[in-house]
Amino acid sequence: MRGRLGIHPRGARDFLDALVALGFLDRDESGRYANVPTANLYLVPNSPTYIGGLLDHMRVHEYPVWNLLTRALQTGEPQSAGGSTGLYPALYADQKALETFVGGMSGGSLLVAKALAEEFPWEHYQTLVDVGSAEGCVLVQIALRHSQIVGGGFDLPAVGPMFDKYVQAHKLSHRLRFYPGDFLTESLPRSDVLIMGRVLHNWDLPTKQMLLRKAFEALPISGALIIYERLIDDERRANATGLLASLNMLVMTVGGFDYSGTDCISWMKEAGFVDIRVKPLTADQSMIVGMKGERRGP
Ligand SMILES: C[S@@+](CC[C@H](N)C(=O)[O-])C[C@H]1O[C@@H](n2cnc3c(N)ncnc32)[C@H](O)[C@@H]1O
Repeated sequence: MRGRLGIHPRGARDFLDALVALGFLDRDESGRYANVPTANLYLVPNSPTYIGGLLDHMRVHEYPVWNLLTRALQTGEPQSAGGSTGLYPALYADQKALETFVGGMSGGSLLVAKALAEEFPWEHYQTLVDVGSAEGCVLVQIALRHSQIVGGGFDLPAVGPMFDKYVQAHKLSHRLRFYPGDFLTESLPRSDVLIMGRVLHNWDLPTKQMLLRKAFEALPISGALIIYERLIDDERRANATGLLASLNMLVMTVGGFDYSGTDCISWMKEAGFVDIRVKPLTADQSMIVGMKGERRGP
């Protein structure tokens, strides 16, 4: 194994046994190592359930920036490459960085996507646009599960080739297309359902409110907006993941922050949404669904 992984003998035993202690590997009586079933399921590249792209994204884009947390806390300024000009222009100027980023987004949203495909009454809707779709992981899971759904992903033009490749790999190019655009300056495509997953947390409050207003305008009267995020609990005491995700927005973005379900409901009401409900999707992410007018289905 040392030879195959290219690991120096000095650290090899401790490294592999640390992975046993952390629950990634098993070691049998004869000293042979193997993946535990969950590692096999989620961390083997090229498998349809691979989510390890998230680890690559964190290694490349996030851990180095967290070294500068103290400076971010002292200044309120992001410490990522884009600095005050914003995260995405800097990320997308470099093809390799873009690829790692969108792979990370798929890793971070695959389990949410599978849950969302089950937890919303999709049978009552035909068209779907995912706003800030990255390469389209969420759309693909919903379209695979619900054959009447057509639509696409709205994202910055640089993401288009990665989106097309991912959707084509899932044989869904005839139902899902890419909408190139900038949601800061353009209106959103019209659709029965809009999704904004881990998008609002990138932005300051006026931009969050502006995006919610644009979503409201783009929906028909019986349309729905689905937001998903790592929500902070209302008491701001229990959900360390949501609070750390918000600090991640401090170090990575100009004005972004995470929020509670109650915060989001109040912003959605301001934008005009009604019948707003919060529902957990995975261990760490929840959806908030709001209607423009009448609800279709239960
Ligand atoms: C944090 S990622 C979330 C991706 C995906 N929804 C998910 O949950 O994995 C935010 C997405 O918003 C997109 N985005 C950022 N600024 C944008 C803009 N001005 N117009 C359109 N999309 C934008 C990014 O390219 C990225 O795909």
